[in-house]
Amino acid sequence: MLDLNDICMTFHPGTVNERRALDHVSLHLNDGDFVCVLGSNGAGKSTLLNAISGALQADTGTIVLDGIDLSGRPEHVRSRYMGRLFQDPMRGTAPDMSIVENLGLAYIRGKRMGLGRAIRRQDRVFFRERLAMLGLGLEDRMDQPVGLLSGGQRQALTLLMATIVTPKLLLLDEHTAALDPKTAAVVMELTQKIVSEHHITTIMITHNLRQSLEYGNKMIIMNEGRIVSLLEGEEKQNITIPRLLEMYDLV
Ligand SMILES: Nc1ncnc2c1ncn2[C@@H]1O[C@H](COP(=O)(O)OP(=O)(O)O)[C@@H](O)[C@H]1O
Ligand SMILES: [Mg+2]
Repeated sequence: MLDLNDICMTFHPGTVNERRALDHVSLHLNDGDFVCVLGSNGAGKSTLLNAISGALQADTGTIVLDGIDLSGRPEHVRSRYMGRLFQDPMRGTAPDMSIVENLGLAYIRGKRMGLGRAIRRQDRVFFRERLAMLGLGLEDRMDQPVGLLSGGQRQALTLLMATIVTPKLLLLDEHTAALDPKTAAVVMELTQKIVSEHHITTIMITHNLRQSLEYGNKMIIMNEGRIVSLLEGEEKQNITIPRLLEMYDLV
């Protein structure tokens, strides 16, 4: 499904600030895999997602998604196949546009239709259904500007936009870290629901160890630009927080 092969990425090469953020990273994911990424600050987690999404071009290595070689392809091409969420709930939605307009843009982009296409009546019905599924009452606020929503509601909407046309890959970069614990739990449950319903291959960076135990069928631990550990199957199911802390310096 996803094949990362020998990806390297160095910032400021040849200067005193030279920093190898990704050091020969290879990873194979199967269709529907949900992998949690752990690692201390500066381990290279966000850079890995940037290299996958094309926000940054890796120096070397290849990336193949569902048989499509995306190596060297620009971000806007890769975004046809991927959804992405960041920590900041303000990122990813346009505050002055309404909920339905935001969803409409995501839908048109995902379907690769011309930006001039209007939102149709049946689109509204579809958006209303999907919004209702969030259980946040947003289906009754479709024409309100997104700027009026709380951080949690906005992040839930961004999640819906990222998956309104089912992506081949979903990239989550600490997407619940900026939310209060209760809201974070709601958004995480929604994530799980959407990902499992649509069988979306997912990579989720988290600092929350409990979250990384509870969600996903795989776990990778990064350190100094390398994947130092990959846990799957029973090993993933049986890992405990004390054991994780013992094995790795996860701060
Ligand atoms: N745009 C950038 N320019 C220069 N250095 C960067 C940039 N992005 C990340 N780095 C460096 O690369 C390393 C990995 O960063 P990052 O991937 O953000 O780590 P993590 O997400 O695991 O905390 C760090 O040393 C960081 O300072
Ligand atoms: Mg990061």
